[in-house]
Amino acid sequence: MATERTLSIIKPDAVAKNAIGDIIARFEKAGLRVVAAKMVQLSEEKAGGFYAEHKERPFFKDLVGFMTSGPVVVQVLEGEGAIAKNRDLMGATNPKEAAPGTIRADFAETIDANAVHGSDSAESAEREISYFFGNDEICPR
Ligand code: PPS
Repeated sequence: MATERTLSIIKPDAVAKNAIGDIIARFEKAGLRVVAAKMVQLSEEKAGGFYAEHKERPFFKDLVGFMTSGPVVVQVLEGEGAIAKNRDLMGATNPKEAAPGTIRADFAETIDANAVHGSDSAESAEREISYFFGNDEICPR
């Protein structure tokens, strides 16, 4: 399997629960390496731009409101099959449907505050990584 990079965001609900370390430990235990990371308070403009493809969805305003409600931790994860591996670790978008032992099953309760984001394809990963990080902020290892 090819080495890939994916964008992960630990969302405001999980940061508020002090779960940053627990979540990153899951990535590392699964063989993913953190090659870039920062904590940021997103503006409405930055969050809205990130989720622009969902602009017409009924939940867009709530999603942007939630993502700007507190700091987030944005990371680039690297490893074999990183995009799918991260999605497996995260679990289903709706925590009520997430498999036991996944991050969303363990750290989230509702679909509108679901602990983590992960890129859903190679194209999304490339776009999302460059939305948050310059090449000089990524440290392959
Ligand atoms: S889709 O149809 O696959 O594109 O949509 P999905 O991936 O399920 O959801 C896209 C992002 O929107 C969030 N989401 C919501 N936020 C608030 N309220 C509701 N009802 C809701 N439904 C979906 C969902 O968590 C996705 O965010 P990310 O950060 O990508 O996980």
